[in-house]
Amino acid sequence: MQDLEVIVLAAGKSTRVKSQIPKVLHKIFGKPVLGYILGLLSAIKIKRIALVVGYRQDLVKEFIKAYKNKLDIRLCRQKRLLGTADAIKPTRNLFKKAKADVLILYGDHPLIKRQTLLDLTKAHRNNFADCTLLTAMMDNPKDYGRIIRDRQGKVTKIVEEKDCLDQQKLIKEINTGIYCFKKDVLFSNIDKIKINKLKKEYYLTDIIELLRNSGYKIEAVRLEDSSESYGINTREDLAKVIDVMRHRILRDFMNEGVTILDPNTTYIYPGVKIGQDTVIYPYTFIESGVVIGKRCSVGPFCHIRPKTILENDTSIGNFTELNRSRIGSFTRVRHFSYLGDARIGEKVNIGAGTVTANYDGRNKNITKIGSGAFIGSDTILVAPVKIGKNAITGAGSVVTRGKDVPDSAIVVGVPAKILKRKKKI
Ligand code: UD1
Ligand code: CA
Repeated sequence: MQDLEVIVLAAGKSTRVKSQIPKVLHKIFGKPVLGYILGLLSAIKIKRIALVVGYRQDLVKEFIKAYKNKLDIRLCRQKRLLGTADAIKPTRNLFKKAKADVLILYGDHPLIKRQTLLDLTKAHRNNFADCTLLTAMMDNPKDYGRIIRDRQGKVTKIVEEKDCLDQQKLIKEINTGIYCFKKDVLFSNIDKIKINKLKKEYYLTDIIELLRNSGYKIEAVRLEDSSESYGINTREDLAKVIDVMRHRILRDFMNEGVTILDPNTTYIYPGVKIGQDTVIYPYTFIESGVVIGKRCSVGPFCHIRPKTILENDTSIGNFTELNRSRIGSFTRVRHFSYLGDARIGEKVNIGAGTVTANYDGRNKNITKIGSGAFIGSDTILVAPVKIGKNAITGAGSVVTRGKDVPDSAIVVGVPAKILKRKKKI
Protein backbone atom coordinates (compact mmCIF):
# COMPACT_ATOMS: atom_id res chain seq x y z
CA MET A 1 0.00 0.00 0.00
CA GLN A 2 1.32 3.41 -0.98
CA ASP A 3 2.44 6.09 1.45
CA LEU A 4 1.65 4.10 4.53
CA GLU A 5 4.18 3.47 7.26
CA VAL A 6 3.35 0.89 9.88
CA ILE A 7 4.30 0.62 13.54
CA VAL A 8 3.67 -2.63 15.40
CA LEU A 9 4.05 -2.50 19.18
CA ALA A 10 5.48 -5.69 20.61
CA ALA A 11 7.73 -4.62 23.46
CA GLY A 12 5.42 -5.31 26.41
CA LYS A 13 6.38 -7.46 29.38
CA SER A 14 3.46 -9.87 29.05
CA THR A 15 2.83 -9.44 32.79
CA ARG A 16 -0.72 -10.73 32.71
CA VAL A 17 0.16 -13.76 30.57
CA LYS A 18 2.71 -14.74 33.24
CA SER A 19 5.27 -16.05 30.80
CA GLN A 20 8.98 -16.13 30.11
CA ILE A 21 8.29 -15.49 26.44
CA PRO A 22 6.68 -12.34 25.01
CA LYS A 23 2.96 -12.76 24.45
CA VAL A 24 3.35 -11.90 20.76
CA LEU A 25 5.25 -15.19 20.42
CA HIS A 26 2.58 -17.34 22.04
CA LYS A 27 1.22 -19.70 19.45
CA ILE A 28 -2.17 -20.04 17.83
CA PHE A 29 -2.38 -23.22 15.78
CA GLY A 30 1.38 -23.52 15.71
CA LYS A 31 2.01 -19.93 14.59
CA PRO A 32 2.97 -17.04 16.89
CA VAL A 33 0.46 -14.22 17.40
CA LEU A 34 2.89 -11.78 15.75
CA GLY A 35 3.04 -14.03 12.68
CA TYR A 36 -0.64 -13.40 12.00
CA ILE A 37 -0.08 -9.65 12.08
CA LEU A 38 2.96 -9.81 9.83
CA GLY A 39 1.03 -12.06 7.43
CA LEU A 40 -1.75 -9.52 7.30
CA LEU A 41 0.65 -6.67 6.59
CA SER A 42 2.35 -8.58 3.84
CA ALA A 43 -1.12 -9.29 2.34
CA ILE A 44 -1.86 -5.56 2.10
CA LYS A 45 1.55 -5.00 0.53
CA ILE A 46 3.14 -2.94 3.24
CA LYS A 47 6.72 -2.10 2.36
CA ARG A 48 8.29 -1.38 5.67
CA ILE A 49 7.38 -2.08 9.29
CA ALA A 50 8.75 -0.53 12.43
CA LEU A 51 8.53 -3.30 15.00
CA VAL A 52 8.94 -2.02 18.53
CA VAL A 53 10.67 -4.58 20.72
CA GLY A 54 11.73 -4.66 24.35
CA TYR A 55 10.99 -7.64 26.58
CA ARG A 56 12.92 -10.70 25.30
CA GLN A 57 13.70 -8.93 22.06
CA ASP A 58 16.23 -11.67 21.27
CA LEU A 59 13.34 -14.11 20.79
CA VAL A 60 11.34 -11.71 18.63
CA LYS A 61 14.43 -11.02 16.53
CA GLU A 62 14.92 -14.73 15.97
CA PHE A 63 11.30 -15.24 14.99
CA ILE A 64 11.17 -12.49 12.37
CA LYS A 65 14.10 -14.01 10.46
CA ALA A 66 11.48 -16.13 8.70
CA TYR A 67 9.94 -12.95 7.25
CA LYS A 68 13.20 -11.54 5.85
CA ASN A 69 12.22 -12.13 2.24
CA LYS A 70 8.62 -10.97 2.57
CA LEU A 71 8.81 -7.79 4.62
CA ASP A 72 11.25 -5.04 5.44
CA ILE A 73 11.06 -5.18 9.24
CA ARG A 74 13.04 -2.59 11.17
CA LEU A 75 13.48 -3.32 14.84
CA CYS A 76 13.10 -0.29 17.08
CA ARG A 77 14.18 -0.80 20.65
CA GLN A 78 12.14 0.61 23.50
CA LYS A 79 14.66 0.79 26.32
CA ARG A 80 12.36 1.13 29.32
CA LEU A 81 8.87 -0.18 28.92
CA LEU A 82 7.01 2.98 29.83
CA GLY A 83 3.77 2.44 27.96
CA THR A 84 2.27 2.57 24.49
CA ALA A 85 3.04 6.28 23.88
CA ASP A 86 6.63 5.79 24.94
CA ALA A 87 6.84 2.81 22.55
CA ILE A 88 6.16 5.07 19.55
CA LYS A 89 9.19 7.27 20.27
CA PRO A 90 11.96 4.91 19.11
CA THR A 91 10.38 4.82 15.62
CA ARG A 92 10.77 8.57 15.10
CA ASN A 93 14.16 8.44 13.38
CA LEU A 94 13.05 5.80 10.95
CA PHE A 95 10.25 7.98 9.67
CA LYS A 96 12.12 11.28 9.64
CA LYS A 97 11.86 11.72 5.90
CA ALA A 98 8.55 9.94 5.35
CA LYS A 99 5.57 11.97 4.17
CA ALA A 100 3.20 9.12 4.68
CA ASP A 101 0.39 8.31 7.06
CA VAL A 102 1.26 6.02 9.94
CA LEU A 103 -0.80 2.97 10.84
CA ILE A 104 -0.32 1.74 14.40
CA LEU A 105 -1.14 -1.80 15.44
CA TYR A 106 -0.72 -3.47 18.80
CA GLY A 107 1.04 -6.81 18.50
CA ASP A 108 -1.58 -8.73 20.48
CA HIS A 109 -4.49 -8.51 17.99
CA PRO A 110 -4.21 -11.45 15.59
CA LEU A 111 -7.88 -11.52 14.55
CA ILE A 112 -7.94 -8.27 12.65
CA LYS A 113 -8.80 -8.71 8.97
CA ARG A 114 -7.15 -7.33 5.89
CA GLN A 115 -10.28 -5.52 4.71
CA THR A 116 -10.59 -3.73 8.06
CA LEU A 117 -7.16 -2.18 7.70
CA LEU A 118 -7.94 -1.15 4.13
CA ASP A 119 -11.26 0.40 5.22
CA LEU A 120 -9.59 2.26 8.08
CA THR A 121 -6.88 3.85 5.94
CA LYS A 122 -9.38 4.65 3.21
CA ALA A 123 -11.72 6.41 5.66
CA HIS A 124 -8.75 8.28 7.14
CA ARG A 125 -7.77 9.64 3.74
CA ASN A 126 -11.27 10.33 2.44
CA ASN A 127 -12.06 12.35 5.57
CA PHE A 128 -8.74 14.22 5.52
CA ALA A 129 -8.47 13.28 9.20
CA ASP A 130 -5.45 13.85 11.41
CA CYS A 131 -6.19 10.70 13.34
CA THR A 132 -8.67 7.89 12.69
CA LEU A 133 -9.20 5.22 15.28
CA LEU A 134 -10.80 1.83 15.01
CA THR A 135 -13.46 1.13 17.62
CA ALA A 136 -15.75 -1.81 18.40
CA MET A 137 -18.84 -2.52 20.48
CA MET A 138 -18.17 -5.12 23.16
CA ASP A 139 -20.68 -6.81 25.41
CA ASN A 140 -17.98 -7.22 28.01
CA PRO A 141 -15.65 -4.23 27.54
CA LYS A 142 -13.64 -4.85 30.71
CA ASP A 143 -9.90 -4.11 30.34
CA TYR A 144 -10.33 -2.10 27.14
CA GLY A 145 -10.09 1.70 26.83
CA ARG A 146 -13.57 3.26 26.50
CA ILE A 147 -14.44 5.71 23.72
CA ILE A 148 -15.93 8.96 24.96
CA ARG A 149 -18.01 10.94 22.46
CA ASP A 150 -19.62 14.36 22.69
CA ARG A 151 -23.25 15.19 21.95
CA GLN A 152 -22.53 15.39 18.23
CA GLY A 153 -21.06 11.91 18.37
CA LYS A 154 -17.48 13.08 17.87
CA VAL A 155 -14.77 11.22 19.74
CA THR A 156 -13.32 13.41 22.49
CA LYS A 157 -11.07 11.02 24.39
CA ILE A 158 -10.26 7.46 25.42
CA VAL A 159 -10.40 6.50 29.08
CA GLU A 160 -8.59 3.38 30.26
CA GLU A 161 -10.47 0.90 32.47
CA LYS A 162 -8.42 1.81 35.56
CA ASP A 163 -9.24 5.50 35.14
CA CYS A 164 -12.92 5.05 34.30
CA LEU A 165 -15.61 6.62 36.43
CA ASP A 166 -18.43 4.20 37.27
CA GLN A 167 -20.59 5.78 34.60
CA GLN A 168 -17.85 5.41 31.96
CA LYS A 169 -17.44 1.73 32.77
CA LEU A 170 -20.89 1.20 31.29
CA ILE A 171 -19.74 2.41 27.86
CA LYS A 172 -19.53 -0.51 25.47
CA GLU A 173 -17.60 1.16 22.67
CA ILE A 174 -13.92 0.31 23.03
CA ASN A 175 -10.57 1.27 21.57
CA THR A 176 -9.12 -1.56 19.49
CA GLY A 177 -5.62 -0.10 19.62
CA ILE A 178 -5.46 0.38 15.86
CA TYR A 179 -5.06 3.92 14.60
CA CYS A 180 -4.12 5.83 11.50
CA PHE A 181 -2.28 9.15 12.01
CA LYS A 182 -0.85 11.85 9.83
CA LYS A 183 2.80 11.30 10.49
CA ASP A 184 3.65 14.84 11.54
CA VAL A 185 0.62 15.06 13.80
CA LEU A 186 1.71 11.90 15.60
CA PHE A 187 5.33 12.81 16.13
CA SER A 188 4.77 16.46 17.02
CA ASN A 189 2.33 15.52 19.78
CA ILE A 190 3.67 12.27 21.20
CA ASP A 191 6.07 14.03 23.58
CA LYS A 192 3.26 16.15 25.00
CA ILE A 193 1.59 13.12 26.60
CA LYS A 194 1.98 13.20 30.37
CA ILE A 195 2.61 10.17 32.52
CA ASN A 196 -0.48 8.39 33.87
CA LYS A 197 -0.28 8.78 37.61
CA LEU A 198 -1.98 5.50 38.48
CA LYS A 199 -0.05 3.22 36.14
CA LYS A 200 3.17 5.27 35.80
CA GLU A 201 3.07 4.83 32.04
CA TYR A 202 2.66 7.08 29.03
CA TYR A 203 -0.61 6.16 27.33
CA LEU A 204 -0.90 6.54 23.58
CA THR A 205 -4.64 6.79 24.11
CA ASP A 206 -4.15 10.17 25.81
CA ILE A 207 -3.17 11.64 22.45
CA ILE A 208 -6.82 11.71 21.41
CA GLU A 209 -7.90 14.28 23.98
CA LEU A 210 -4.74 16.25 23.36
CA LEU A 211 -5.36 16.42 19.60
CA ARG A 212 -9.01 17.21 20.06
CA ASN A 213 -8.18 20.13 22.38
CA SER A 214 -5.75 21.48 19.79
CA GLY A 215 -8.37 21.45 17.05
CA TYR A 216 -7.15 18.45 15.05
CA LYS A 217 -9.64 16.36 13.11
CA ILE A 218 -10.36 13.01 14.75
CA GLU A 219 -12.50 10.37 13.10
CA ALA A 220 -13.49 6.86 14.10
CA VAL A 221 -14.38 3.72 12.17
CA ARG A 222 -16.46 1.16 14.04
CA LEU A 223 -15.93 -2.56 13.45
CA GLU A 224 -18.96 -4.59 12.44
CA ASP A 225 -17.60 -7.85 13.78
CA SER A 226 -16.31 -7.02 17.25
CA SER A 227 -14.50 -10.35 17.60
CA GLU A 228 -11.83 -8.94 15.26
CA SER A 229 -10.77 -6.63 18.05
CA TYR A 230 -10.12 -9.25 20.72
CA GLY A 231 -6.72 -8.60 22.23
CA ILE A 232 -4.61 -10.99 24.26
CA ASN A 233 -3.69 -9.94 27.77
CA THR A 234 -4.16 -13.24 29.61
CA ARG A 235 -4.08 -16.97 28.82
CA GLU A 236 -7.85 -16.88 28.98
CA ASP A 237 -7.87 -14.22 26.23
CA LEU A 238 -5.54 -16.45 24.20
CA ALA A 239 -8.02 -19.33 24.42
CA LYS A 240 -10.84 -16.99 23.37
CA VAL A 241 -8.88 -15.78 20.34
CA ILE A 242 -8.02 -19.36 19.35
CA ASP A 243 -11.70 -20.22 19.53
CA VAL A 244 -12.70 -17.35 17.23
CA MET A 245 -10.00 -18.26 14.75
CA ARG A 246 -10.94 -21.94 14.84
CA HIS A 247 -14.59 -21.23 14.08
CA ARG A 248 -13.64 -18.86 11.26
CA ILE A 249 -11.60 -21.64 9.62
CA LEU A 250 -14.38 -24.21 10.09
CA ARG A 251 -17.01 -21.82 8.72
CA ASP A 252 -14.91 -21.31 5.56
CA PHE A 253 -14.68 -25.08 5.02
CA MET A 254 -18.39 -25.58 5.54
CA ASN A 255 -19.09 -22.78 3.05
CA GLU A 256 -16.90 -24.58 0.53
CA GLY A 257 -18.81 -27.85 0.82
CA VAL A 258 -17.09 -29.78 3.60
CA THR A 259 -19.27 -31.41 6.27
CA ILE A 260 -18.04 -30.85 9.81
CA LEU A 261 -20.25 -32.82 12.16
CA ASP A 262 -19.15 -31.17 15.37
CA PRO A 263 -17.37 -27.83 15.09
CA ASN A 264 -16.92 -27.80 18.85
CA THR A 265 -14.50 -30.72 18.79
CA THR A 266 -12.82 -30.18 15.42
CA TYR A 267 -9.48 -28.41 15.14
CA ILE A 268 -8.24 -27.50 11.69
CA TYR A 269 -5.13 -25.34 11.44
CA PRO A 270 -4.78 -22.57 8.85
CA GLY A 271 -3.29 -23.70 5.54
CA VAL A 272 -5.21 -26.98 5.17
CA LYS A 273 -7.01 -27.97 1.95
CA ILE A 274 -10.12 -30.15 1.98
CA GLY A 275 -12.16 -31.18 -1.06
CA GLN A 276 -15.93 -31.09 -1.48
CA ASP A 277 -18.20 -33.65 0.18
CA THR A 278 -15.54 -34.79 2.59
CA VAL A 279 -16.98 -35.49 6.03
CA ILE A 280 -15.03 -34.67 9.17
CA TYR A 281 -16.23 -36.57 12.25
CA PRO A 282 -15.90 -35.25 15.82
CA TYR A 283 -12.66 -34.99 17.81
CA THR A 284 -10.45 -34.52 14.81
CA PHE A 285 -7.23 -32.52 14.68
CA ILE A 286 -5.75 -31.56 11.31
CA GLU A 287 -2.51 -29.57 11.15
CA SER A 288 -1.18 -27.01 8.65
CA GLY A 289 -0.18 -28.17 5.21
CA VAL A 290 -2.43 -31.24 5.12
CA VAL A 291 -4.26 -31.82 1.84
CA ILE A 292 -7.47 -33.89 1.84
CA GLY A 293 -9.26 -34.79 -1.36
CA LYS A 294 -12.94 -35.04 -2.24
CA ARG A 295 -15.46 -37.45 -0.68
CA CYS A 296 -13.10 -38.57 2.09
CA SER A 297 -14.22 -39.62 5.52
CA VAL A 298 -12.03 -38.51 8.43
CA GLY A 299 -12.43 -39.41 12.11
CA PRO A 300 -13.76 -39.60 14.70
CA PHE A 301 -10.68 -39.23 16.95
CA CYS A 302 -8.08 -38.59 14.28
CA HIS A 303 -4.83 -36.68 14.24
CA ILE A 304 -3.54 -35.76 10.80
CA ARG A 305 -0.13 -34.15 10.96
CA PRO A 306 1.78 -31.97 8.47
CA LYS A 307 2.84 -33.05 5.00
CA THR A 308 0.08 -35.62 4.75
CA ILE A 309 -1.98 -36.03 1.60
CA LEU A 310 -5.22 -37.98 1.42
CA GLU A 311 -6.30 -38.60 -2.14
CA ASN A 312 -9.99 -38.62 -3.13
CA ASP A 313 -12.33 -41.16 -1.50
CA THR A 314 -10.02 -42.26 1.31
CA SER A 315 -11.43 -43.29 4.64
CA ILE A 316 -9.50 -42.59 7.84
CA GLY A 317 -11.17 -43.86 10.97
CA ASN A 318 -11.04 -44.05 14.73
CA PHE A 319 -7.85 -43.34 16.69
CA THR A 320 -5.59 -42.96 13.68
CA GLU A 321 -2.52 -40.76 13.48
CA LEU A 322 -1.01 -39.93 10.11
CA ASN A 323 2.24 -38.05 9.68
CA ARG A 324 4.14 -37.06 6.49
CA SER A 325 2.24 -39.72 4.56
CA ARG A 326 0.43 -40.10 1.28
CA ILE A 327 -2.72 -42.22 1.20
CA GLY A 328 -4.06 -43.30 -2.20
CA SER A 329 -7.65 -43.18 -3.44
CA PHE A 330 -10.16 -45.60 -1.89
CA THR A 331 -7.62 -46.71 0.70
CA ARG A 332 -9.04 -47.40 4.15
CA VAL A 333 -7.29 -46.87 7.47
CA ARG A 334 -10.23 -47.43 9.73
CA HIS A 335 -9.00 -48.33 13.22
CA PHE A 336 -6.13 -47.50 15.62
CA SER A 337 -3.19 -46.98 13.29
CA TYR A 338 -0.03 -44.94 13.17
CA LEU A 339 1.30 -44.29 9.70
CA GLY A 340 4.39 -42.09 9.46
CA ASP A 341 6.48 -41.48 6.30
CA ALA A 342 4.24 -43.91 4.45
CA ARG A 343 3.51 -43.95 0.72
CA ILE A 344 0.36 -45.95 0.24
CA GLY A 345 -1.22 -46.81 -3.08
CA GLU A 346 -4.87 -47.08 -4.08
CA LYS A 347 -7.49 -49.46 -2.69
CA VAL A 348 -5.28 -50.62 0.16
CA ASN A 349 -6.85 -51.95 3.32
CA ILE A 350 -4.88 -51.09 6.43
CA GLY A 351 -6.04 -53.44 9.20
CA ALA A 352 -6.80 -52.37 12.74
CA GLY A 353 -3.71 -51.62 14.81
CA THR A 354 -1.24 -51.35 11.93
CA VAL A 355 1.89 -49.39 12.81
CA THR A 356 4.76 -48.15 10.69
CA ALA A 357 7.90 -48.21 12.83
CA ASN A 358 9.38 -45.32 10.89
CA TYR A 359 11.99 -44.12 13.38
CA ASP A 360 15.07 -46.17 14.13
CA GLY A 361 16.43 -43.80 16.76
CA ARG A 362 18.39 -41.79 14.23
CA ASN A 363 16.48 -41.51 10.97
CA LYS A 364 12.91 -41.40 9.79
CA ASN A 365 12.42 -44.13 7.18
CA ILE A 366 9.88 -44.71 4.48
CA THR A 367 7.29 -47.46 4.19
CA LYS A 368 5.80 -48.13 0.76
CA ILE A 369 2.64 -50.12 0.26
CA GLY A 370 1.53 -50.95 -3.27
CA SER A 371 -2.02 -50.58 -4.55
CA GLY A 372 -4.46 -53.33 -3.68
CA ALA A 373 -2.43 -54.61 -0.71
CA PHE A 374 -4.21 -56.01 2.34
CA ILE A 375 -2.41 -55.30 5.61
CA GLY A 376 -3.67 -57.61 8.33
CA SER A 377 -4.65 -56.40 11.77
CA ASP A 378 -1.80 -55.55 14.11
CA THR A 379 0.90 -55.60 11.45
CA ILE A 380 4.14 -53.79 12.30
CA LEU A 381 6.05 -52.50 9.31
CA VAL A 382 9.65 -51.73 10.27
CA ALA A 383 10.85 -49.09 7.83
CA PRO A 384 12.46 -48.82 5.39
CA VAL A 385 10.35 -51.52 3.86
CA LYS A 386 8.17 -52.09 0.84
CA ILE A 387 5.00 -54.12 0.51
CA GLY A 388 4.22 -55.07 -3.07
CA LYS A 389 0.99 -54.60 -4.96
CA ASN A 390 -1.84 -56.90 -3.91
CA ALA A 391 0.34 -58.44 -1.19
CA ILE A 392 -1.17 -59.66 2.09
CA THR A 393 0.26 -59.55 5.60
CA GLY A 394 -1.22 -61.87 8.21
CA ALA A 395 -2.61 -60.62 11.48
CA GLY A 396 0.14 -59.81 13.98
CA SER A 397 2.99 -60.05 11.50
CA VAL A 398 6.15 -58.01 11.89
CA VAL A 399 7.65 -57.16 8.51
CA THR A 400 11.26 -56.36 9.33
CA ARG A 401 13.46 -53.65 7.95
CA GLY A 402 14.48 -54.12 4.33
CA LYS A 403 12.60 -57.43 3.96
CA ASP A 404 10.48 -56.23 1.08
CA VAL A 405 7.36 -58.22 0.32
CA PRO A 406 6.97 -59.01 -3.39
CA ASP A 407 3.81 -58.21 -5.34
CA SER A 408 0.95 -60.61 -4.55
CA ALA A 409 2.88 -62.45 -1.81
CA ILE A 410 1.38 -63.49 1.51
CA VAL A 411 3.56 -63.07 4.59
CA VAL A 412 2.87 -64.10 8.17
CA GLY A 413 4.62 -64.33 11.52
CA VAL A 414 7.34 -62.63 13.53
CA PRO A 415 9.53 -61.91 11.67
CA ALA A 416 7.21 -62.16 8.68
CA LYS A 417 7.99 -64.92 6.19
CA ILE A 418 6.49 -65.64 2.81
CA LEU A 419 3.74 -68.23 3.09
CA LYS A 420 2.90 -68.42 -0.56
CA ARG A 421 2.33 -66.27 -3.54
CA LYS A 422 -1.20 -65.49 -4.58
CA LYS A 423 -2.12 -66.88 -7.93
CA LYS A 424 -2.03 -64.17 -10.53
CA ILE A 425 -5.52 -63.68 -11.91
C1 UD1 B 1 -4.37 -1.02 25.13
C2 UD1 B 1 -5.01 0.36 25.05
C3 UD1 B 1 -6.51 0.22 25.28
C4 UD1 B 1 -7.10 -0.70 24.23
C5 UD1 B 1 -6.40 -2.04 24.24
C6 UD1 B 1 -6.83 -2.85 23.05
C7 UD1 B 1 -3.32 1.96 25.86
C8 UD1 B 1 -2.88 2.79 27.00
N1 UD1 B 1 -4.41 1.21 26.07
O1 UD1 B 1 -4.52 -1.53 26.45
O2 UD1 B 1 -7.14 1.51 25.17
O3 UD1 B 1 -8.49 -0.86 24.47
O4 UD1 B 1 -4.98 -1.87 24.15
O5 UD1 B 1 -6.37 -4.15 23.17
O6 UD1 B 1 -2.71 2.00 24.82
N2 UD1 B 1 3.62 -2.27 24.46
C9 UD1 B 1 4.86 -1.81 24.15
N3 UD1 B 1 5.55 -1.09 25.06
C10 UD1 B 1 5.02 -0.75 26.27
C11 UD1 B 1 3.73 -1.21 26.58
C12 UD1 B 1 3.04 -1.96 25.66
O7 UD1 B 1 5.38 -2.09 23.06
O8 UD1 B 1 5.71 -0.06 27.05
C13 UD1 B 1 2.89 -3.09 23.47
C14 UD1 B 1 2.51 -4.47 24.01
O9 UD1 B 1 3.51 -5.42 23.70
C15 UD1 B 1 1.21 -4.77 23.29
C16 UD1 B 1 0.62 -3.39 22.97
O10 UD1 B 1 1.67 -2.46 23.16
O11 UD1 B 1 1.40 -5.46 22.07
C17 UD1 B 1 -0.54 -3.02 23.88
O12 UD1 B 1 -0.13 -3.05 25.24
P1 UD1 B 1 -1.04 -3.69 26.36
O13 UD1 B 1 -0.33 -3.58 27.65
O14 UD1 B 1 -1.53 -5.01 25.94
O15 UD1 B 1 -2.28 -2.64 26.38
P2 UD1 B 1 -3.74 -2.86 26.96
O16 UD1 B 1 -3.70 -2.77 28.43
O17 UD1 B 1 -4.34 -4.07 26.35
CA1 CA C 1 -3.55 -5.75 25.04
